[in-house]
Amino acid sequence: MATLVTGGAGYIGSHTTVALHDAGRDVVVLDDFSNASRAVIDPIRRLTRPDLPVVEGDVGDPDVLDAVFGEHRIDSVVHFAARKSVAESVRDPLGYYRSNLGSTIALAAAAIDRGVRRLVFSSSATVYGSTSALPVTEDSPTVPESPYGETKLMGERILSGAAAASGPTAVMLRYFNPVGAHPSGLIGEDPSGEPANLVPRIMQVATGRLERLDVYGADYSTADGTAVRDYVHVMDLAEGHLAALDVDIAPASSRVYNLGTGSGTTVLQVLAVAGEAVGRPIPYEMAGRRPGDVEASWADCTRAREELGWQARRSLPEMLADHWNFTHHHPAGDGSQSG
Ligand code: WQD
Repeated sequence: MATLVTGGAGYIGSHTTVALHDAGRDVVVLDDFSNASRAVIDPIRRLTRPDLPVVEGDVGDPDVLDAVFGEHRIDSVVHFAARKSVAESVRDPLGYYRSNLGSTIALAAAAIDRGVRRLVFSSSATVYGSTSALPVTEDSPTVPESPYGETKLMGERILSGAAAASGPTAVMLRYFNPVGAHPSGLIGEDPSGEPANLVPRIMQVATGRLERLDVYGADYSTADGTAVRDYVHVMDLAEGHLAALDVDIAPASSRVYNLGTGSGTTVLQVLAVAGEAVGRPIPYEMAGRRPGDVEASWADCTRAREELGWQARRSLPEMLADHWNFTHHHPAGDGSQSG
């Protein structure tokens, strides 16, 4: 029996595909390559198996799902495929509701029809919004502040509903701030385009594609005035999905887990560690706060530790060293190797 990984050519999807393979699982990747380059298929196959099944198609298309479930014996699904830009979702809310919720509904229906036993859902700490006391627990208020965050919370509810309808049991993983890359440097976060996230932008400064990093806000009530986040290695996240596929939960039920390190780091602290990884200081300038940003966010991961037997093991220096190792082998970001 195989595990279907939707969005398996993406950043966290590709690392999870490798982790599942390394754990001895058969994997089928489904991706429409709307947010991933086809050039990543080769390195993913180099890290798994030359004949890894990679299906190109839209997870929201029932005919695509019929074909995938018809051709492969699938007993579990990890669902990453989604549009994931907070800013873009504010500009195109209906597009986000249509694509992210439509794909999750189509997948849930197929999973019920096909007797899938476990669904793992790629959720996000963005469902908590800015109201949570710290550290954030799974019972903290969920008040998403963007259409993207709303689609993640609704996605959790859709899959909980599918589970209750005697469909697959569902496990939702709320990631904090994913960073890093596979130690081989073969896969990582596509550094092309105009990323909004901190570490990809730091890496664009390091490769000369950006002149300097703008630090959004220096007047927060934090150790050095800059905002705090819980950065977690993408390999740790990938291993969390493996645990989520196997955890025992009651039939017809679902369960939510935070995946983070449980500690917060400021922007300036990330910049200092990134400079060590890159081998030279990262030029930056203080700028105004970014609308919508929270001052601080970090996870309470007690539930994942106690129930999944999972905790993040990799340090911030390791995250940034691995991220830099991938980036400087792929400066163009098209997935092609250099050097
Ligand atoms: C981190 C910190 C910025 C860029 C987002 C999404 C969330 C999740 C993770 C998908 C903040 C600061 C950033 C820059 C900066 N994604 N920053 N200069 O906003 O915590 O979370 O990514 O699930 O949904 O909201 O991450 O990396 O954008 O920002 O100073 O050029 O870095 O202000 O304090 P964020 P981020």
